[in-house]
Amino acid sequence: MSSADAATDDTAPVVELTGVTKTYDLGGVVEALAGVSLALPEGSYTAVMGPSGSGKSTLLNLIGALDTPTEGQVVVAGQDVGSATEAERAGLRGTDVGFVFQTFNLLPRLTAVENVALPLVFAGVPRDERTARARELLVDVGLGDRTDHLPTELSGGQRQRVAIARALVADPALVLADEPTGNVDTDTGGRVLDIFDDLHARGNTLLLVTHERHVAERAERIVHVRDGELVRIEDLGRGSD
Ligand SMILES: Nc1ncnc2c1ncn2[C@@H]1O[C@H](COP(=O)(O)OP(=O)(O)O)[C@@H](O)[C@H]1O
Ligand SMILES: [Mg+2]
Repeated sequence: MSSADAATDDTAPVVELTGVTKTYDLGGVVEALAGVSLALPEGSYTAVMGPSGSGKSTLLNLIGALDTPTEGQVVVAGQDVGSATEAERAGLRGTDVGFVFQTFNLLPRLTAVENVALPLVFAGVPRDERTARARELLVDVGLGDRTDHLPTELSGGQRQRVAIARALVADPALVLADEPTGNVDTDTGGRVLDIFDDLHARGNTLLLVTHERHVAERAERIVHVRDGELVRIEDLGRGSD
């Protein structure tokens, strides 16, 4: 049963980080994140910008429950990522979070439709339904005529769109994207950003890492990170013009 907390007007944030640090110890200690606090309200669209090595991917990996914080708290969809079991984190990734990786991470021996359907295998969706849903998503990203191609038979831009379709197939409320336009041509980049605009319009919560200003400006606000710290939140003032 869900808790019957006193009614409030604000919904709880989908993501809440409090005093998060992440250190990697490989002989020398690297502090990838150094005390980050950040909340993502439901339905918000946030971009993260910062120089290479500033901790952007680390931040995304923690929110995507791919990793756990060294200190502090990461709460995603009501679950504390740091104290969750591996199975609980896998559950979060499978149902609540869609992750678009910079390098696509498609399985090379699976066709586009099989790659896209994969998250539904883990969710226990029957095969016919998986395939139908995966085809639908591929049509949505403009790849309805490439469903049975292997990743090697697709261009970089097409692979990125397959990766986006895969991230969206389980209909996650939260979509995370790590430099989704970094390895694709300008046209595909524009198309990818249009897909995100659409998701935002439909009420999804989005967090997108980029080092391109014009990409970040599609969001409602830009979180600037440097040396593992959140240095500034820039509100792009949507809705006030
Ligand atoms: N798995 C890891 N092992 C050791 N160091 C890491 C690891 N991942 C990231 N780092 C280090 O943490 C810092 C932040 O990395 P990252 O989050 O990938 O930055 P960004 O995505 O902003 O380029 C860098 O100094 C990087 O070398
Ligand atoms: Mg990165």
